[in-house]
Amino acid sequence: MHILLVASAFNSLTQRVLAELQDRGHTVGVTLALGNDGALREAVRVHAPQLILAPMLTTAIPEDIWRAHTCLIVHPGPPGDRGPSSLDWTLQGGAESWGVTVLEAVAEMDAGDVWAWSPLRLPPLAGKSDLYRGEVADAALDAVLLAVERFASGRHKPQKQEAEALAAGWRPFMKQEQRRIDWACDTTETVLRKLRAADSQPGVLDELQGARWYLHGGHPEDELRGRPGELIATRAGAICRATVDGAVWILQLRPWRETGSRLPSYKLPAVEALGDLLPFEVPEVPAPLQLPAGRRTWFDIRYVEQGAVGVLNFSFPGGAMSTAQCRRLLEAYRFACTRTTSVLVLGGMRDFFSNGIHLNVIEAAEDPSEESWANIHAMNDLVEAVLTTTDRLTVSALGGNAAAGGVMLALAADEVWCRDGAVLNPHYRLMGLHGSEYWTYILPRRVGESEALRLTQSALPVSATRAVELGMAERVLQAAPEELGVEVARLAAELAASPELADRVARKKAMRGQDESIKPLQRYRDEELVHMRRNFFDAREPHAGLRSAFVRKEKASNTPPHIARLGLAD
Ligand code: COA
Repeated sequence: MHILLVASAFNSLTQRVLAELQDRGHTVGVTLALGNDGALREAVRVHAPQLILAPMLTTAIPEDIWRAHTCLIVHPGPPGDRGPSSLDWTLQGGAESWGVTVLEAVAEMDAGDVWAWSPLRLPPLAGKSDLYRGEVADAALDAVLLAVERFASGRHKPQKQEAEALAAGWRPFMKQEQRRIDWACDTTETVLRKLRAADSQPGVLDELQGARWYLHGGHPEDELRGRPGELIATRAGAICRATVDGAVWILQLRPWRETGSRLPSYKLPAVEALGDLLPFEVPEVPAPLQLPAGRRTWFDIRYVEQGAVGVLNFSFPGGAMSTAQCRRLLEAYRFACTRTTSVLVLGGMRDFFSNGIHLNVIEAAEDPSEESWANIHAMNDLVEAVLTTTDRLTVSALGGNAAAGGVMLALAADEVWCRDGAVLNPHYRLMGLHGSEYWTYILPRRVGESEALRLTQSALPVSATRAVELGMAERVLQAAPEELGVEVARLAAELAASPELADRVARKKAMRGQDESIKPLQRYRDEELVHMRRNFFDAREPHAGLRSAFVRKEKASNTPPHIARLGLAD
């Protein structure tokens, strides 16, 4: 079937729907609805789709389009739930189960006939955007694929929604006053719900150190205590604030700005955002790398060992890895390599694996070019450490998406396991970068020269299934985001027990030696960095402008050409 995706952004869900429909043999086009109904009509005319599908749409489809074509909208709520802040209300209300519905576009928002829906369980700790990329995306795909199948059958009669239920199901846009934290009264549980419901957008507006900020990311803390609202500790860029009955970790802050202000406002690690406002007496309280079981605290890097398997868990907001984060992860990796294990797993947590260098931290640096340079070196050092580990088998376990240098970090390992919902973007072009992280060695050795070129030039997402077909990954893991850790541990233990393991490690060591004698890793690095230096330091290069637009979330004015061409004959 020829399907046209209409979306407000080419975001994770849109990319996943695209990739998974393509995997099933559909031809799929994408057009972004950016407030220009004329452009939308033109895209519909050019594509002449059999079905229009909107995986993530914040505006209405014009009436003439939905009258002439079946338009199916994905709503992140069960049938009967309506409104623009569905997940926010649900998370803030503390529900345990939820759903995603695919319904037909009509004049009234979320009031059309239901084509399919899928239930989901809300995990206790995930924030809204993590949930959106995890359980919600899984349920959305189930519902979308069922709806497409039903539509294709030509026989399915969608379910009408009753007027009474529709009226009762409407919930308005959630405003900041409904998100506000009352530090003097709200318990840890309430504070966490509010933070999770607002994560990653729009954050919870609050006051701290005499300034106004949006707070992003919330995790419980079981040991530290203080006066409610007080800033009591820092850890790896995050801040800890006391509540009436405990404390919470807040990972990122975004400064509040007057409407119309031209001052930049984007998220930064909380400590960095506060800068000189952070009182010097607030202690840095690192989490032990081998966190004792049963602790309820926040960490971004953790090492766990079971028998012959070591697992180096890591999770950074937005998958972005700053110079400091790369260096800490490298230090942890080196520690993991001192242990007597035969299999070392990297990742294995829900949500993003890695999206490469930290564009926000770079943008905020005094000298962004120098910071980019430091960040890419730190990322390269980490990738090099994985590539040169020859005494054990390494595995990257991707619970969620990876992009750019984050994909290369994953592919540096001997095996790559992707959760079935993971989407990979193995390219740098859209950020105006040649790319580094040894991609010129890593990608061709897995997929061949011409496919590596196609992947990096087409700049399109790749599903987990397709990644295995292409040779970028070894396994697709059929596991819910919350079950990933257990599944990874089980498979890694199997691998460690396999009789071929010693031979595999010996072969890989020999292969690395052979590759090194043909062309040393340092040469790949040097060659890539010649381009990257120009990308970062030459004022005529587009990278700085693209980075600025990315961190400030500037909206595109039309569908980027590499996406607009999708699904159309050459
Ligand atoms: N640096 C800083 N922040 C990043 C980031 C990076 N490299 N990659 C992603 N993020 C942030 C996004 O700004 C977004 O922030 P938000 O939560 O405040 O909205 C969040 O992570 C999630 O990203 P988003 O773009 O919403 O996710 P997506 O799944 O829809 O899209 C990508 C994923 C990877 C396609 C997109 O984020 C991207 O192009 N990232 C940049 C990749 C890159 O070029 N890295 C540098 C070269 S190594």
